[in-house]
Amino acid sequence: MRALLISDIHANLEALKAVLAAAPAHDVVWNLGDVVGYGANPNEVIDETRRLGDVFVRGNHDRVCAGLGGIEEFNPVAQRAARWTECVLTGEHREWLRHMAVGPIAPDGPLVRCVHGSPMDEDEYVLTLHDAWPALDATDVRITFFGHTHVQGGFATNGDEWFRLAPRYSTHGRVHGGHDREYLHAEAEEFELELREGARYLLNPGSVGQPRDGDWRAAFALYDDTRMILTWYRVPYDVREAQERILQAGLPDRLAARLKDGR
Ligand SMILES: [Fe+2]
Repeated sequence: MRALLISDIHANLEALKAVLAAAPAHDVVWNLGDVVGYGANPNEVIDETRRLGDVFVRGNHDRVCAGLGGIEEFNPVAQRAARWTECVLTGEHREWLRHMAVGPIAPDGPLVRCVHGSPMDEDEYVLTLHDAWPALDATDVRITFFGHTHVQGGFATNGDEWFRLAPRYSTHGRVHGGHDREYLHAEAEEFELELREGARYLLNPGSVGQPRDGDWRAAFALYDDTRMILTWYRVPYDVREAQERILQAGLPDRLAARLKDGR
């Protein structure tokens, strides 16, 4: 079984299209939440992702944009984006968001689970080994897929040792001078991680629509449970178009600017 893992699309239609065009053959799609919020195309992105299957975990932005609470925890930019999203969502899409499953969910038996933030809290950021410890310690779950941090990578333990995991790429989507033409011609890259017997993992495919790990390229992953390999991917996309749409929608400038920085 090959599962395509996508997370934190954040209403970025250009990034989602690039990911789907580049995605290798897969049997299922597991979506780790934050389908909407920040970006300019929430309705189109919901339509596109729903077509891919029905395994979704709710993200904190999905919850807030559906009017289910927590907007007071957001910074002013995120609050403005959430209010804008709530206004433009169709009634059907708003209802769909309201009924998204709250994680953890087990899409493939008891050994694998999907969450948005952490297994304990959809709003919790797992950024360090210290954060990862409670989720990896004393569990029979072998692999927990998570999102929320917008950082591609993860954590692992064999019971004695603890590891931080990150893909190693050669270009990081680096562009010289930041000209639009060079963004369009950045390279796609991938990195394979062998999943070892006896180890437990917390794995983040990264963010499709608003990466924050210093690499602006759209992030996703593929989990192959026959080969026991996780492959992380980065693909360039039309970031200029995504920025234009954000500005035209009247969303905060910062949301457009940060897409090119990957921060
Ligand atoms: Fe997010």
